Amino acid sequence: MFSRLIKPQTVAVLHNNAKNICTSSQRNAKVAVCGASGGIGQPLSLLLKQSPLVTELSLYDIVHTPGVAADLSHIDTFSKVTGYNGPEQLKDALKGADIVIIPAGVPRKPGMTRDDLFNTNASIVRDLAAACAEACPKALIGIISNPVNSTVPIASEVLQKAGVYDPNRVFGVTTLDVVRANAFIGHGKGIDPTTVNCPVVGGHSGVTIIPLISQCKPAVTFEKAALKALTERIQEAGTEVVKAKAGAGSATLSMAHAGAKFTFSLCRALKGEQNVIECAFVRSNITEAKYFSTPLLLGPNGIQKNLGLGQLSDFESELLKAAIPELKKNIQKGEDFVNKK
Ligand code: NAD
Ligand code: LMR
Repeated sequence: MFSRLIKPQTVAVLHNNAKNICTSSQRNAKVAVCGASGGIGQPLSLLLKQSPLVTELSLYDIVHTPGVAADLSHIDTFSKVTGYNGPEQLKDALKGADIVIIPAGVPRKPGMTRDDLFNTNASIVRDLAAACAEACPKALIGIISNPVNSTVPIASEVLQKAGVYDPNRVFGVTTLDVVRANAFIGHGKGIDPTTVNCPVVGGHSGVTIIPLISQCKPAVTFEKAALKALTERIQEAGTEVVKAKAGAGSATLSMAHAGAKFTFSLCRALKGEQNVIECAFVRSNITEAKYFSTPLLLGPNGIQKNLGLGQLSDFESELLKAAIPELKKNIQKGEDFVNKK
């Protein structure tokens, strides 16, 4: 009956599409989200569930994961969704993961800095990294939890102590800074933001966020005062959202978009796609800071090549100078947390 209603060519197309989905899905990734029930975790998991790049979605949180997983699992897309709740199920959640994305931990309230989250989030990231070291030591790990400038060194030290640290596989997710720069430039200049690419380097808080507007593609120009104002808006965009949410948390939806964008790039790189480039906060020898975000060429084993800073304008060189002492302090604080009794 069905085949009599549709043309043979259509059947062939459907058959080929199904074959493509099956073939590609076999090479696609198992992604674990730690903090999956949260403000970022839920919309991020929804976006990941919609992509054929993800074969298995493993959702971990300390609360509500069975409900989130049951809800998402009813969506008619390819990936299989499983929920894991509480520390006793953490290793099962991580087993076999190619990619682990970590948006676990508390967000800011108005008046707080990201560093004010350190006391709560440092131990959450430490414990999740320790579980990754045991359950999925080869996974690519993307850390969203703030303060990113410290949580990435924390995770790295934990993996190092466990003897499984590969600096090419640990990323602080700073994609939201790039997304914001692209949005503000695109809307400001009347260019489709999806066609704008402005690298943002450094770290992920205040003065450590360094937009490289001189390297934006397509090229854009601003008068001195406008350039300063735009740069400061990108640096303080997280605080803009925290203030607007008035106590109800920080960026979640734009972060879910940014987190999905970064995760899909990791998935494509894992599959062997060429020319996958993202900025992320990683172990680095580009500047005096031990961890630093720059554009990275991604490959099947994580960072394939650090593409560095490129040519900076005088204005951007000054921003870099201002960022380094703060970055070094944040990095040291993270390392000390793991190494000092
Ligand atoms: P949220 O409070 O809405 O969600 C956090 C989730 O983490 C909750 O579901 C909570 O149960 C879970 N959680 C707590 N401890 C956990 C543990 N030990 N293991 C697993 N899950 C645990 O917060 P949110 O708005 O989703 O933000 C999460 C984090 O992301 C914050 O630290 C925030 O500052 C950060 N953030 C980073 C960026 C970035 O650009 N990197 C952007 C936005 C927010
Ligand atoms: C952001 O940039 O939106 C996040 O880091 C959350 C925050 O606290 O600003």
